[in-house]
Amino acid sequence: MARFIPEPYRIKMVENVKMTTREEREEALKRAHYNMFRLRSEDVYVDFTTDSGTNAMSDQQWSAMMLGDEAYAGGRSYFKLIQAAEDIFQYEYFQPVHQGRAAEKVLFGAFLKPGKFALANLFFDTTRAHVELAGARCLEACNPQAADTQLRAPFKGNMDIERLEAVILEKGPENVGMVVMTITNNSAGGQPVSLQNMRETAKVCRKYNIHLNIDAARYAENAMFVKLREPECKDWSIKRIIREFFTLADTFTMSAKKDAIVNMGGLIGVKDANAPYIDRIKANCISFEGFLTYGGLNGRDLAALAVGLYEGMDEDWLRYRLGTMEYFGSRLDELGVPYQSPPGGHGIFLDAAKFYPQIPYTEYPAQVLAVELYREAGTRTSEIGSYMLGNDPDTGAQMRSMNEFTRLAIPRRVYTQSHYDMVIDSIAQVWKHREPMKRGYRITWEPPILRHFQASLEPITE
Ligand code: F0G
Repeated sequence: MARFIPEPYRIKMVENVKMTTREEREEALKRAHYNMFRLRSEDVYVDFTTDSGTNAMSDQQWSAMMLGDEAYAGGRSYFKLIQAAEDIFQYEYFQPVHQGRAAEKVLFGAFLKPGKFALANLFFDTTRAHVELAGARCLEACNPQAADTQLRAPFKGNMDIERLEAVILEKGPENVGMVVMTITNNSAGGQPVSLQNMRETAKVCRKYNIHLNIDAARYAENAMFVKLREPECKDWSIKRIIREFFTLADTFTMSAKKDAIVNMGGLIGVKDANAPYIDRIKANCISFEGFLTYGGLNGRDLAALAVGLYEGMDEDWLRYRLGTMEYFGSRLDELGVPYQSPPGGHGIFLDAAKFYPQIPYTEYPAQVLAVELYREAGTRTSEIGSYMLGNDPDTGAQMRSMNEFTRLAIPRRVYTQSHYDMVIDSIAQVWKHREPMKRGYRITWEPPILRHFQASLEPITE
C-alpha cells in the first residue's frame, strides 16, 4: 500500500461541519431532486464535488489580501500579479478575469464562429459550452488508453496525434479555429499530458497554421506528473517544465480556482504582445468582466492569486498532492474497486460503469453512484459522464461519454487522512452492496445548456 505522505502545512483555522443522519440525507436528496449541485453544503460532510475554488488559502495569501489595492485602474495588486505571471509563464500579455469560463468567453470568439470547429484532447463542461456558444462545434482526439480505466499508463490525458491530424484534414485546416490542450485532462480523469505530446501537438498546429490554446486549470499538477514520469524532465524544476509547455502554445485560458489555490480568479495569457486578437480580448474584458487591470476581481483577489501561483507549483506541495491520490488509489486497489488508474492529479474518478454494468449510459450510472455515496456517508461527488456531457447541440440526442465517472475531486489543503479513510470505507460499503441496483435516473426537467448544474432527476422504479 502507498504510504500517506504527511501534509507540508499545519492548520491555523478550522470550519466546523454538521453531522447528518441517513434519514436527513434521504430528505436532502429528495429536496435536491437528486442533483448534487442542488444540495446545501451544510448537508454535506465531505465535499468532493470539485477542487475548484474550494481550496484553503495560506497565511501568506490572506496577509497579501490585506495589502490588496482596490483602485479601479492601475492598482498595485494588478502589477504584482502580472509580474508573477510573466516570471512563470514568460508570455507578453496577461488578462485577469473572474474565472476560467470568463477567460473562455472573452477569448474564444476571436477564433470560433458558426462553421468552425475546436479540437481538444477532451473539453471540460464550460469549455465545451463556450465553443458552442460561439457558434462552433467540438471535436475530440483523446488518447484511446483513457477509455480503459484498468490500464496503468503514464500519460492517458495525451492528444491522439494521428486522430488530431486526420480530423484536421477531414474538416479542412481552414475550418479548425483552434486546438485546445487541457492540462491535466479533467474529463479523462485528471490524467496528465506529456511534454513530448505537447510538442507533437504544437508541430501539427504549426504545420496547418492553427491556433493552439492551453486550458491551464491544472498546469502545476501536470508539470509534477511530467517530472515524475518523463525521463527527460526528471531533474528539471517545476517552473522550467511549465515554461517549456507554455512556450509551445499561442495562448492559455486558466481557471485559477484550481492549481493557483484561490477561491475565485482566472487568467488569459498571450505569448505575443503584437497578436492581433489582443484588442478583442481587451474590448471583451471591459464589456463583460471589468477594466483591464482588475478583470472582474477585487484587488485583494489579484493579490492572493499572485501568491497562489507560486504556492501551487511548490514541489513539496505537489509531491504531497499527487501522493494523496496514490494513497487513495492504492487503498481502492486493495478493495478491488475500479477507478481511472493511475489516479489523476486532482481526484479519484470511480468507474461507475463497472459498479453498475446493468445500467445503461442513458440512465446515468455515475449519477447512481454519486447518490449512493452521499446516502452512505454524506460525501458529495460529481458525475463526469453522459449526464454531464448532455445532448448533441444539432440533433438533441443524448451523447455518450467515453467513460462514466463519479469524481471525487479533492479540494487543496482542506481535508485530512482520516477524511480520506472514512470516504474509502464508505466506498467499500457501496461497492459491496452494488448488485441489486437495477435502474438509474431519468431527467424530469433540464435547461438547454450545461444542464447538469440545474436539472431535476428522479429514480426509475419500474
Ligand atoms: N477548464 C477546465 C479543465 C476545468 O476543469 C474548468 C472547471 C474550467 C475550464 C472552467 O473554469 O470553473 O473557473 O469557470 N472545472 C471545475 C471542475 C468547475 O469541477 O472541474 P471555471
